[in-house]
Amino acid sequence: MSPNPLANTPSLEDLDRRHMLHAFTHLADFASGAMGEPRIMVGGDGCHVVDRKGRRYLDGFAGLYCVNVGYGRTEIADAIARQAHGLSYYHAYAGHSSEPAILLAERVIEWAPAGMSRVYFGLSGSDANETQAKIVWYYNNVLGRPAKKKIISRHRGYHGGTVFAGSLTGLPVFHTAFDLPLGPVRHTRNPHHYWEGADGESEEAFSRRCADELEALIQAEGPETVAAFIAEPVLGTGGIIPPPAGYWAAIQPVLRRHDLLLIADEVVCGFGRLGTRFGCDRYGIQPDLLTIAKGLTSAYLPLSGAIVGERVWRVLEEGSAKYGPFGHGYTYSAHPVCAAAALANLDILEREKLTENAASTGAYLQDRLRDRLAGHAHVGEVRGEGLLAAVEFVADRKTKRRFETADKVGARLAAACVERGLIARAMPHGDILGFAPPLVITKAEIDQLVDTTAAAVAAVLG
Ligand SMILES: Cc1ncc(COP(=O)(O)O)c(C=O)c1O
Repeated sequence: MSPNPLANTPSLEDLDRRHMLHAFTHLADFASGAMGEPRIMVGGDGCHVVDRKGRRYLDGFAGLYCVNVGYGRTEIADAIARQAHGLSYYHAYAGHSSEPAILLAERVIEWAPAGMSRVYFGLSGSDANETQAKIVWYYNNVLGRPAKKKIISRHRGYHGGTVFAGSLTGLPVFHTAFDLPLGPVRHTRNPHHYWEGADGESEEAFSRRCADELEALIQAEGPETVAAFIAEPVLGTGGIIPPPAGYWAAIQPVLRRHDLLLIADEVVCGFGRLGTRFGCDRYGIQPDLLTIAKGLTSAYLPLSGAIVGERVWRVLEEGSAKYGPFGHGYTYSAHPVCAAAALANLDILEREKLTENAASTGAYLQDRLRDRLAGHAHVGEVRGEGLLAAVEFVADRKTKRRFETADKVGARLAAACVERGLIARAMPHGDILGFAPPLVITKAEIDQLVDTTAAAVAAVLG
């Protein structure tokens, strides 16, 4: 018998291990196979994805909280194809434009909170925050304040993985061995009342303390050196932490007193996830700059935006006389095919009233998670807002003792969910399961999500 010509053909899994350098992955364990088989996705519809082995999962995290309109939307695929057949690319340098980019900019400003003026389109949340930092620095140079450059972010805040956005990120795993943070960055307290609040301290008192500490940091650095504060309305990747009561009302006057710009990083919260168009609308935040990505296209194609408020825009405009052209840009800025995808995505969000759905099904998700899990002996906190939720696990509820890191409780819980057909995210810091399903999720699917999570928790923790 002749030898099978395919016998030595490597599998796709082997090729993956051999050739891909994966994001946020234990590289050695992945390459050696110790992490197990890569999960290779091949399709999706609605809130579900299907892997190469034909297994179907309820995606409780919408990819990376981005597939807001759900998978398999042919309407977006068709819009992408139409645009690619027409004008596949043109750049946005030196005043050039494309129809979808212009229409999208108008639409985004319409969606955004009051006072926003212009949008700079990039490709990722990280590059949009890089753009925001450069805008903050340029702004202060135009105003003749060259020393006012530091940007304050929060411990556990997440703003991306590039050099400066990664420096703004307040998670050690994004800094260690990368020589970060780099540049004029400072970090202030993570506003998580459960962990950071003192015994008996109310949420309001804790919020005032966070604001006082921020002000003390600004004073210590010298207000003439501090330019901006960046924060997510609900802190996301650092643990899905809604602000404690009164937080934003306490923080914003501090920023105004010292003339700091406020950058609202709405990469996760924007486009309906919290049951309002933006997190700023939910918490009464009045940003100077606002960062968007993810839900802008529901990740059908990469696209982000650095939205610039009127006050900053006027100064950037003044800068032309002093500095000439605004020296910032990427080849793919305002890519017309990505903009076409975003327009089709916004059509769906509006037509299907998905922000409203996120408000009602979001409230249902929060209630169901609380009812089912808050009483468990190892659940420290169930928290969230709209269709963004987290369950945090502790070894001892009374003393709030954490599990040992080596026990990998969060990762084991996420694995137990996957075995049962549910994707939940083990958040990178702490033993936290995160949920951020597509905004099209139904109450029946939420029941399935909660029941499966409860079964996984029972299997791992009893
Ligand atoms: C709040 C926030 N900002 C920025 C980013 C970075 O976006 P990207 O991964 O598209 O670079 C993320 C990504 O999760 C995010 O959650």
